[in-house]
Amino acid sequence: MPYAHITGWGMSVPEPVLTNDDLAKIVDTNDAWIRERTGIRERRIARATDFPSTLGTSAALKALSVANLKPTDLDLIICSTSTPEHLFPATACLIQDQLGATKAGAFDLLAACTGFIYAINMAAQSIRSGAIKNALVIGTETLSRFVNWEDRNTCILFGDGAGAFVLQASEKPGGILSAVMHSDGSGGDLLTLPAGGSRHPATEATIREGQHYIYMDGREVFRFATKVMVQSTEEALKAAGLTKDDLKVIIPHQANFRIIDAAARGLKLPIDRFVINVERYGNTSTASIPIATVEAVEKGRLQAGDKVVFVGFGAGLTWGALVAEWMGPLPSPRKVNMGRYRLWGRVRSILHRIERFLEGLIWGRRA
Ligand code: ACO
Repeated sequence: MPYAHITGWGMSVPEPVLTNDDLAKIVDTNDAWIRERTGIRERRIARATDFPSTLGTSAALKALSVANLKPTDLDLIICSTSTPEHLFPATACLIQDQLGATKAGAFDLLAACTGFIYAINMAAQSIRSGAIKNALVIGTETLSRFVNWEDRNTCILFGDGAGAFVLQASEKPGGILSAVMHSDGSGGDLLTLPAGGSRHPATEATIREGQHYIYMDGREVFRFATKVMVQSTEEALKAAGLTKDDLKVIIPHQANFRIIDAAARGLKLPIDRFVINVERYGNTSTASIPIATVEAVEKGRLQAGDKVVFVGFGAGLTWGALVAEWMGPLPSPRKVNMGRYRLWGRVRSILHRIERFLEGLIWGRRA
């Protein structure tokens, strides 16, 4: 049975920075309150030209470049997002098109902020089963488009961004060692985007009542998060046959510094064992774990052979953890020119659209 290794990683965040002081000009809040209760100092906000697919594609190209893998080598693309561009088509398909990943199946996975952990696990299972060799997992969000900028309880928390991992089959032991996934739909109403789906389709009333914005019971989510972070980390470690002392770092979902601090105390681990960057990006939901991972690798906090836990929680309710032995890129004789593939993805997409148009002219379009 092959092992599933993380061989590439990349991130992409929009340029505009929104500081706590900027927020204080919009809602009744202040920098001191936000920093003390959440640890957040600033977050990135998508420009009009940034979308989950564009941020996700950018992160994916960087991850492919690290893995030295062509988009056309991909067998599977899983896009984990809570802010898809449409109900359908899947954002994963938009990314597949922008990459020119012509041989890959593509689908979205929605498990809110735990989504990236679920998605890595799904990709790793597909690799270990022998069904596929190369997978791309993306976490990408533009939460700023679903935030009520008049609600100080939520608008201070969230930010936009994307991160991506490449997973590949290898005979070398290591890679994803264990994963646990949990859910409890009885808490679904604690963190929800009530309208815009098939239960409450968009109407004038739903829009007037602000039901297209994120609703959250912050205190309940806080209580839930501190409990499950510890539980699922311990469960995943046990499944991998490891203890917390084997870990180089823990990379948690970046929702709130106080939640991570409580988890550190619950696990009786020093806080410096945790990778934390919530102060600069806020809560980027499914993108937070891969973004924190990329920064940890760049700072040398995660190197080949290190054991790491990824742990997350979110709406659903969902939670989960994953243990991995970090490896890095597989040896490869060639160097892929990713700039060429960025351009090729666009050209291929235009050519396909022209081809479809011409076929329509030849065979006749239905009225
Ligand atoms: N600025 C100033 N005051 C504020 C603000 C603000 N932005 N927001 C709330 N307050 C006020 C409240 O109105 C309240 O005032 P009151 O006592 O007069 O009513 C007071 O501050 C305390 O409010 P609490 O809600 O009790 O504050 P708390 O310490 O619980 O912090 C927070 C709120 C930060 C939202 C916290 O509950 C939290 O982090 N919860 C978890 C949120 C989370 O992680 N969500 C995402 C999870 S999953 C996912 O990522 C999708």
